[in-house]
Amino acid sequence: DQLTSYRAWLQYNPINQQDYREEIMHLLSTICVKDRNEVIDRALDELSFGLDQMIGYKPAVVRNEEDRSMLIIMIDPTYKAEMYTINLNSEKSMLRGGSSRAILYGVFHLLRLIQQQSKLTGLSIKEVPKNAIRMINQWDDMNGSVERGYAGESIFYKDYQFSKDRQRIYDYARLLSSVGINAITINNVNVHQIESKLITDTYLAEVKQTSDIFNQFGITLFLSINYAAPIEIGGLDSADPLDPKVRAFWKDIAQHVYEVVPNLGGFLVKADSENRPGPFTYGRNHAEGANMLAEAMEPYGGKVIWRCFVYNCKQDWRDRTTDRARAAYDHFMPLDGSFNDNVVLQIKNGPMDFQVREPVSPLIGGLEKTNQFLEFQIAQEYLGQQRHLVYLIPQWKEVLEFDTFAKGEGTTVKQIVSGDVFDNNISGIVAVSNIGNDYNWTGHTIAQLNLYGYGRLIWNPDLTAEEIALEWIKQTFGNHPTVIKLLMEIVMPSWETYENYTSPLGIGWMVNVNHHYGPNIDGYEYMAWGTYHFADRNGLGVDRTQETGTGYTSQYHQENQSLYEQVETCPDELLLFFHHVPYTHKLKSGKTVIQHIYDTHFQGVEQVQSMMEKWEALSSFMDAKRHQDVQERLNHQLENAKEWRDIINTYFYRKSGIADRHNRTIY
Ligand code: GCU
Repeated sequence: DQLTSYRAWLQYNPINQQDYREEIMHLLSTICVKDRNEVIDRALDELSFGLDQMIGYKPAVVRNEEDRSMLIIMIDPTYKAEMYTINLNSEKSMLRGGSSRAILYGVFHLLRLIQQQSKLTGLSIKEVPKNAIRMINQWDDMNGSVERGYAGESIFYKDYQFSKDRQRIYDYARLLSSVGINAITINNVNVHQIESKLITDTYLAEVKQTSDIFNQFGITLFLSINYAAPIEIGGLDSADPLDPKVRAFWKDIAQHVYEVVPNLGGFLVKADSENRPGPFTYGRNHAEGANMLAEAMEPYGGKVIWRCFVYNCKQDWRDRTTDRARAAYDHFMPLDGSFNDNVVLQIKNGPMDFQVREPVSPLIGGLEKTNQFLEFQIAQEYLGQQRHLVYLIPQWKEVLEFDTFAKGEGTTVKQIVSGDVFDNNISGIVAVSNIGNDYNWTGHTIAQLNLYGYGRLIWNPDLTAEEIALEWIKQTFGNHPTVIKLLMEIVMPSWETYENYTSPLGIGWMVNVNHHYGPNIDGYEYMAWGTYHFADRNGLGVDRTQETGTGYTSQYHQENQSLYEQVETCPDELLLFFHHVPYTHKLKSGKTVIQHIYDTHFQGVEQVQSMMEKWEALSSFMDAKRHQDVQERLNHQLENAKEWRDIINTYFYRKSGIADRHNRTIY
């Protein structure tokens, strides 16, 4: 049954427990709503639908307070815009929000609790999101494909037109708002010829329609733009940000775009990155490039989100002085403080590109006078492409909890990106989506957890990975203790499992070129992308120290600099990211690097096997469709994990000539 898969975590399964049903009916029999608009209407729809599905009744909605048990829903202008409180008791219950959007979040919160059959009587909560902007980036192209998409085709476009299936977009908006997402870009950061016209009358009417759908769910729409649009669509011979004609072009564009789509959030820009055009062509820097757009957008309150994924992708592998990891910091740190107020820099979580293990980008904690977004990737481009089961929240937790020491001990990434540390006027977190038009949205059913978890985590970064997984499991698969136990055991170690059988100790890559799936150790070794492992017969790793290497470690604050600079203090899991060491180097675990490689690779495959046994044991606890879907993917994951294990182990055995201490099969 595809509907079950489609509903994701909004299952709203019937609740049979009589006393709980009565409790809910008693508390929520009548809803009194003081304010009405389309966002609050969505909230009421949701509450009715959810209660009808779970308890079998629709609450009465009234406008005036009556003296019977009821829930009063109202906007409280003294609250912060996205804050809400819920107080439930048998006399008088209240849901107050600082805005209609906050009320929608409050309703989803209630439904989340009811799905988990949490006790509601006496409930008293106050919620304020930690991050102001909580955004999704779609990498959808108008030909209908999704760049790095692993869940079918785009739900937004088909054959260079907007998709006719508006319901699908509506349902997506609903899913996103249920976990607090409040912003989205609907086209790929790589803006090709056709998509460059999204800001023109060719498509603006449909951009507006799409924006209207998202707005009903409290989500603001943004567009990715082509920096060379003045040439591509404006017929100019330049896109130089200091050229008056170019500046006039963007002012006209901004004016017209806001005429048609008044609620547009702004533009997202990938410039001078991976062959995309940008200000470098004209000898201008990124601040000049971004500020020109910012001025055009400013009168309408539009934002310019400028990506920091800027590096030399035409590097000569023979050149040992260029280090891709340094690039973002080298480009943007000197510009700190020179961006306009409505510009925000979007920084990937690591200095490379969404690998299974990377240190945190030193730009976060480096920049002090510039607005910034942290960028994650929910799509598992380098983490098994939604064919492998990998729970990403544990990885993101490590990023958010990382101490940058920017203002002394305790200046964690989560504090900085929330805008608190440097008092930014724009701040937040962004991630590349993992959905497509597959009937279950995410290809792998368990990958729904990463979308869910992303929203929950960035709303409240203090939630633990366990808490998030637990609430998702209960809503998606029910409350049975066996389901909870087995699924927790499946998802919690899955990131570490993936790391175990893929590239070791922070080195990254070792994947097939272009599509990035499956092992290929030397795939990128002699390429122009700046992604090398430097394995020879003695050892491997990239020397990024100041003493003998590329000096990348100097981009961190002192405490982290010295932590990473010394082999002795560098954490094992990042050792090969920072150091070139012999295979016989002893890790803190007491193992040599080569033995660690062998052990983790055998272990990783065993962990997949155990994951499969646990999944097998869940078959009677869910619908056949979802069970079978995941099982098929697990079968594939196991085969692919063996491939990784055998290729990695064999490669390093042949390079090093050092045998496995346990004499297991290496080819
Ligand atoms: C990765 C990914 C590209 C993407 C790029 C980006 O390199 O492979 O498909 O365009 O990131 O983030 O811009």
